[in-house]
Amino acid sequence: SMVRLYKFSVVMKNATRLCASKPIVTVNGKFPGPTLYAREDDTVIVRVVNHVQHNITIHWHGVRQLRTGWADGPAYITQCPIPTGQSYIYNFTLTGQRGTLLWHAHINWLRATVYGAIVILPKRGIPYPFPKPDKEEIIILGEWWKSDTEAVINQAMQAGVPPNVSDAHTINGHPGPVPNCSSQGTETGLHVESGKTYMLRLINAALNEELFFKIAGHQLTVVEVDASYTKPFKTDTIFIAPGQTTNALLTADQDTGKYLIAISPFMDTIVAVDNQTAIGTLRYEGTHPFTPTSLTAMPPTNATPVTTSFVDSLRSLNSIKYPAKVPLKIDHSLLLAIGVGVNPCATCVNGSRVVADINNVSFVLPVTALLQAHYYKISGVYTDDFPANPPNPYNYTGAGPANMQTMNGTKVYRLGYNSTVQVVFQGTGIIAPESHPTHLHGFNFYAVGKGLGNFDSEKDPKKFNLVDPVERNTLSVPTSGWAAIRFRADNPGVWFLHCHLEVHTTWGLKMAFLVENGEGPSQSLPPSPSDLPKC
Ligand code: C2O
Repeated sequence: SMVRLYKFSVVMKNATRLCASKPIVTVNGKFPGPTLYAREDDTVIVRVVNHVQHNITIHWHGVRQLRTGWADGPAYITQCPIPTGQSYIYNFTLTGQRGTLLWHAHINWLRATVYGAIVILPKRGIPYPFPKPDKEEIIILGEWWKSDTEAVINQAMQAGVPPNVSDAHTINGHPGPVPNCSSQGTETGLHVESGKTYMLRLINAALNEELFFKIAGHQLTVVEVDASYTKPFKTDTIFIAPGQTTNALLTADQDTGKYLIAISPFMDTIVAVDNQTAIGTLRYEGTHPFTPTSLTAMPPTNATPVTTSFVDSLRSLNSIKYPAKVPLKIDHSLLLAIGVGVNPCATCVNGSRVVADINNVSFVLPVTALLQAHYYKISGVYTDDFPANPPNPYNYTGAGPANMQTMNGTKVYRLGYNSTVQVVFQGTGIIAPESHPTHLHGFNFYAVGKGLGNFDSEKDPKKFNLVDPVERNTLSVPTSGWAAIRFRADNPGVWFLHCHLEVHTTWGLKMAFLVENGEGPSQSLPPSPSDLPKC
C-alpha cells in the first residue's frame, strides 16, 4: 500500500450556470472538485487550506475512519471548523474498502459546491468480481441555486419556513443545455464506442433531493453501492439518494446514435419541484453532434414502486454458505422515530417553525466538538441520555401531534467498544410522508429489513435478511415506513447520524453515537493531531 498526498486549497471561483454568474466556494478552483484516487489499504493525507471567508471542514463520506475519528470532518461533531487562513491535515487509511465514495464540505450548506469523488481501486492484482470494464467514468449529480446557498438557508431559518428549492439539477456540475442561453451548458455526457463496456461511478451529491438516473435505450447493471459489492442486477432506472454512490456497468450495445441521459427527483412530499432536470447525452463514436437525441421517459416524481423495486434488488455477494457478518446477538436495540414537525415560534412569520427530530429530540450542534469534549473530558458540552425509543407509542403513519413541540438537545447515545447495535428507523410522516436518506458516519451497516407502516417488533425481525443484506453507509427510510440496520461498534469515537437531505439536518434530524475506547491501542482512538482546529 502507498501514501497518497493531496492539497485542497479552498478558494472562491466564479461559475456561470443558468445564464448567470456567481462566486462559489471550491476546492482548487474546480467544480465539481478534484477526484481523490487511491487503492484499498492506502493511506490518504489531504492538507486542506482555507482561503475563503467561511469556516470549512471536509468529510470523507463513507470512509470508515477506523481509529481516525479526528479526520472524519463533520463540524462540531469530530472537529472545530478550519478558520480563514488556517489549515488542517486529514490523515486516514482506506482499511478494507474499495469502490466509489464522495467527499464534501460538512458545515452549513457549503457542500452545495464543495464536493468531489473518491475512487478506491482494489489492491494491485485483485480483480473486480465482474468482467473488467473497458473504461470508467465518474458521474456526480448535484443541485444548483442561482442565489448564494448560505443566504437561502439563513433566510429560511429566520422565517421558520422551508428554503427555496434549487433552480436546477446538475450532472458533473452542469444542468445541460439551457433554452435562450449562450454556449455554456453545451453537450455534456459520455462518448462511447460500440461494443465496449463502461463502469459508471454514480454519486448523488445533491443537497436535498433523491434522484432517478436513466440513459435512453440502455440497461445498466448495478455491481456496487457505497463501496460494497452487490450481486449484479439489471435495471433501466437507478435510484440514488444524497450521500449514496452506485457503480453500474453500461454496455454500449447499439451501433450508433445519441441517447439522452437524465436525472429527475423522487419526492413524495407536498413541496412543488420546479427545478430544471439535468440532461446530458451518450453519444456513440462516429455519430454527428447534431444528430437528434433518443429520449427517455423518467419515472413520475412520486414513483415509490420504482424506488422499492430498486432497493429490494440490492444484495451483497454473500450466500448461505458464506453469510455476511451480521451481528446476531444484539446489545443495543434502538427504535428511532424520524420526521419533520412544527414547533411554536413567536418571532417567525407563521408563528411556528419547521423542525426535524429523532425521538422528539431536535439536535443542536454544540460550540465545542463532541469528540474533543468526550476525549478530553470537557464537561457541559453534551449529555449521554439520547432516548433509545420514542417518548410514547403512536401511529407513525397517521396524522397527529407527535412531532409537535420537540425538545432541543445535544444528546448522544453511548455504546461500549465492540457492542452490537440494531437501529430501526421509523418514518413518522406527520407533516408529509417523506423518505429520509439516513447516513451513519464511521461504519458500514447491514440493511437487514424494511417495510411500510409501523414497525412490528414481534413479527418484522423474523423476516430480516441476515444472509446477504447490502452493506452501506446511507439508506433511504421509506415513506411512511421503516428500515432496520445492524452494525458492530468497533470504531471508537463520536459518530454522526443524520438525514442526508441537508434541509432536514439543518432542522435537527441528527444525533451522534459515542463509542468508547476498548482495551489497548488497537481498540482505542489515539490523541488528536496537533493541528486540530480550536473552537
Ligand atoms: Cu455525507 Cu454527515 O455526511
